[in-house]
Amino acid sequence: MKLIHEGKVKKVFQDTQSKNQVVIEFTDDVTAGNGKKKGTISGKGVLSCDLSEFFLKYLAKKGIQTHFIRRLESTQMRCKKVEILPLEVVVRNVAAGSFCKRYGIKKGTKLSSPLVEFFLKEDSLHDPLITEEAAIRLELALESDMAFMKAIALSVNHYLAELFSQVNLTLVDFKLEFGKTEDGAILLADEISGDTIRVWNKKGESYDKDLFREGEGDIAKAYAFLLKKLNTTKPENVTKRDEMMYVSVMPKDGIKNPPGEVTKKALIRLGLSEASEVRMGKIFEIHLSQPITSDILKQLTLMNLKLLSNPIAEKHRVRMEM
Ligand code: TMP
Repeated sequence: MKLIHEGKVKKVFQDTQSKNQVVIEFTDDVTAGNGKKKGTISGKGVLSCDLSEFFLKYLAKKGIQTHFIRRLESTQMRCKKVEILPLEVVVRNVAAGSFCKRYGIKKGTKLSSPLVEFFLKEDSLHDPLITEEAAIRLELALESDMAFMKAIALSVNHYLAELFSQVNLTLVDFKLEFGKTEDGAILLADEISGDTIRVWNKKGESYDKDLFREGEGDIAKAYAFLLKKLNTTKPENVTKRDEMMYVSVMPKDGIKNPPGEVTKKALIRLGLSEASEVRMGKIFEIHLSQPITSDILKQLTLMNLKLLSNPIAEKHRVRMEM
């Protein structure tokens, strides 16, 4: 197989049978601090592959589309070929790592609700935090891609956090990567393992790569512990998340909007003389029985054109919100 990409701890090979598939191989290497600290830990490759297989299969069962196809030998998995978006998506439930350094927050502070952050994947810049707006302006992703990734990241957080809580572990934070297939679908890609996740027990002890980042802890033992615990969980008992999205429909620019004009007159009468134009539209709140997928989004856009809005007079916008 031809090597098409070599990362810090993984190799990606072009599959020989299908041009739309790749084989991802996990090595025993471990790095931290943008490659400043390096090591090799016997058995880590198999464990990271085991954990990724576990998580990606579990999330697929919960309706999240991933690149995982099937496990091959001990350190390899077959995946759909995607173009990885140059953004890392981090979800945080509890303050740790770079979040504490950036904001001077005490490690272990619980956030009032999950926070999604985006980082630019660029080693030479040390993967800086990037705002959604900057990512869109720099054309790293479309506005709809950003909203999509955020929605999926929050679903993943729900499903992983509940699973860990079954075995008295806290999901502190984790990092995801997404990729686009040839036909434009966005899939959850890359790995989810002890390298990309922070998990603590009730005493705040880590079972993840922080053991290597912060010292000489035995990460193979920690990853094996995680796997053992996860294998005792009951994924079927995890509660379903209420997946919701909004579709807003507004009159197109230049189209007369009588309800807006009436409202404008009323606002002025009530004293808001600054109101220069008011346009009234509508919002549909749509609850889904499963996490959003590229197909659902496409369907919704088509239906929206046919059903929810009048495409001649109105413009619509699909928003995903949690
Ligand atoms: P951070 O606190 O260092 O920003 O990390 C947040 C989460 O993202 C943590 O679970 C570790 C993971 N992560 C990666 O998987 N790869 C990376 O390159 C970085 C910086 C973090």
